[in-house]
Amino acid sequence: MTSDDRQTVPSDPTRRLTPVVRIAPAKLNLTLSVIARRDDGYHSLHSVFAALGLADRLSLALAAGDVDTLHVSGFDPGLTADNLVHKAIAATRAAVGGAWSGGPGPAPALAVRLDKRIPIAAGLGGGSSDAASAIDGALEAWAAELDPEARLRVAAGVGSDVPFFLAGRVALVEGRGESVAPLDGLHGTPGVLLVTPAITVSTRDVFEAFDAIRTHGDGAVRLTSMHLAEELRAKLSTADLVARAGAMTVANDLLPAAMLVVPSLVAFRRSISRLLGRPVGLSGSGPTLWALYASEAEAAEAAELVRTALGDGRISAPGVTEPFVGATHIQTGHQQGSQP
Ligand code: C5P
Repeated sequence: MTSDDRQTVPSDPTRRLTPVVRIAPAKLNLTLSVIARRDDGYHSLHSVFAALGLADRLSLALAAGDVDTLHVSGFDPGLTADNLVHKAIAATRAAVGGAWSGGPGPAPALAVRLDKRIPIAAGLGGGSSDAASAIDGALEAWAAELDPEARLRVAAGVGSDVPFFLAGRVALVEGRGESVAPLDGLHGTPGVLLVTPAITVSTRDVFEAFDAIRTHGDGAVRLTSMHLAEELRAKLSTADLVARAGAMTVANDLLPAAMLVVPSLVAFRRSISRLLGRPVGLSGSGPTLWALYASEAEAAEAAELVRTALGDGRISAPGVTEPFVGATHIQTGHQQGSQP
């Protein structure tokens, strides 16, 4: 039985015994314009987000005890990706109150299994996506309802990128991250190469570096971001998106700040770009670098090229261990077989 089946057959008596499964995709920022620093210290953004095929997997089941538990496998199982899942479940429980199938007491503890396939603290939104999946999955496990506004409030309270993952696909994200407008005009299945050096970059540090060097974002970045959003709202083919990669890869106001925080990224980005002969962008505050391709198969060939060049020493990556190098695709509403 799939999670979709469960949603459509709510009276299934085995429902509570079967874990709820959620796929939590990574994201890429195709553009990221910082509009202004707000009084609360956050920054208002204009950013085109794209959900990717690369995804974590969450399963949530009602637990016997009183405490939510989390078991992480895959990428860095010891790391703190779990925090946002715990925070998301606690915030959802508080928002639901007694309004769940076994109420009026609080919703019961959950046992969560998280299979991490998205590199952590990479600018790919893995922790935020896990949190959005935890909100959605917890509601189903408890047979509880929250209206869309309440879900959005819970998501925004957990983290700035979490609201995007309630919607997924391709979207224009504005405000601190709470304003999410789907952009449904992208046709086809663009391939994406991801290269994540094994270095930790704090989003907060990058925004602080941004504030230290400028008061607002670059006008050209903002124009590119607005133009791309318009095109993706109307209709854009994969080939046309790939043709715009040169403009998109420099349309990230956090790029200079991230390069200040991690200077070794400058040379690494340049060497990857030279090797591939195409423009290379930074996702969010980094450190993940990306390049666009006409298909995932082409991105996979590029990934092989990068692995070989790392292996024979033609290029070297910052970080104590080898970088994550992977091929994936952008999730759109106009493709077939797009499930990760
Ligand atoms: O909301 P979240 O915890 O994901 O944000 C991490 C950090 O990134 C914040 O502490 C803030 O410094 C910065 N941030 C920001 N403006 C945003 C999103 C994040 O300044 N829109």
